[in-house]
Amino acid sequence: PETITVQELANRMAEKGADLVKALFKMGMAVTVNQTIDQDTAELLITEFGHNVKRVSESDIDLSLDTAEDSPEALEPRAPVVTIMGHVDHGKTSLLDALRGTGVASGEAGGITQHIGAYQVTLKDKSKITFLDTPGHEAFSEMRARGADVTDIVILVVAADDGLMPQTIEAINHTKAANVPMIVAINKVDKEDANPQRVRERLLEHEVIVEEMSGDVQDVEVSALKKTGLDELVEKIQLQAELLELKANPNRDAEGIVIEAKLDKGRGPVATVLVNRGTLRVGDVFVVGAESGKVRALIDDKGRQVKEAGPSVPVEVLGLSGVPSAGDPLQVVENEARAREVAEYRQSVLLQKRTAQAPASLESMFSALK
Ligand code: GTP
Ligand code: MG
Repeated sequence: PETITVQELANRMAEKGADLVKALFKMGMAVTVNQTIDQDTAELLITEFGHNVKRVSESDIDLSLDTAEDSPEALEPRAPVVTIMGHVDHGKTSLLDALRGTGVASGEAGGITQHIGAYQVTLKDKSKITFLDTPGHEAFSEMRARGADVTDIVILVVAADDGLMPQTIEAINHTKAANVPMIVAINKVDKEDANPQRVRERLLEHEVIVEEMSGDVQDVEVSALKKTGLDELVEKIQLQAELLELKANPNRDAEGIVIEAKLDKGRGPVATVLVNRGTLRVGDVFVVGAESGKVRALIDDKGRQVKEAGPSVPVEVLGLSGVPSAGDPLQVVENEARAREVAEYRQSVLLQKRTAQAPASLESMFSALK
């Protein structure tokens, strides 16, 4: 398969490398300007930036989408998106349950999280935090990487009795790769054989230096079971979020990222979407990955139908033409013809990949750039 570095593609498109990296990040890919991307990704990127990708025997359609930056005056504070990561059974879901006052962990098959759960918690002071729960099982590395990519802050849960384990270390690496600040929650401190200090020491080996060790990574001892340390954890999240000055423009067509998607027997294709900016409303027409749709219903994390979802709000979207992939961007567009046009183009790209037809060479593709 043909590849191109992000910088080289940027040069050919006469765009800034950093802008391409940003766009790729929104598409769920954490890459630097010096890394390579494949042809399909390059094509999508060209499309997103409003250039035409011209190919022999393909009609010339304008696929530009409105991805303009928002003006600073349009920005309003938004809730932080916090992803909970860590080794299997270290208590991620239990911790989130304790923060939400619910019991998701006890209802899971075999007590193992199989997907990314997305929830918004309203705190006593009425401020909100969006949490993403990830599975710790070794098979779910991609989900953790995805979680790290869409998040503002990572909470690394380490069980104080078990200490650092393979998925703890992997989560540290995902977090570093995504360049996201981390808060270490040392869990299960109620256990007799808990050794929080040992966790702090072992973290040093992975260049995670917590406050207790005179570093700048916040750490907190918690027990999801006994519900201790939770207020302190929330305070640390809020402190970290304040430093990030998280803002988004709620008054524009929505853009979001698919956290997960499935085909539901009764409801058809359903996608859990985290809105990045703008406000998604019932009736909005959108393109999501290589699918399109019109929002038939929006369902919040408590199973209630809602009319709209703004920045940082996770919401289930009904009314899709098919099941998109996790990590796909969702964008509201002006009408259904436009949505279909973009989706059909993207499907043709995917189809070409699947059928392994001889792809148009990168050279001819880019020489045809507007
Ligand atoms: P995966 O999603 O499968 O990776 O696991 P998880 O990290 O979400 O762990 P989960 O919350 O399912 O908890 C695993 C086990 O640890 C359960 O039996 C919990 O009851 C137990 N547990 C979680 N937190 C604590 C704690 O603070 N103290 C004690 N003693 N047990 C805990
Ligand atoms: Mg879990």
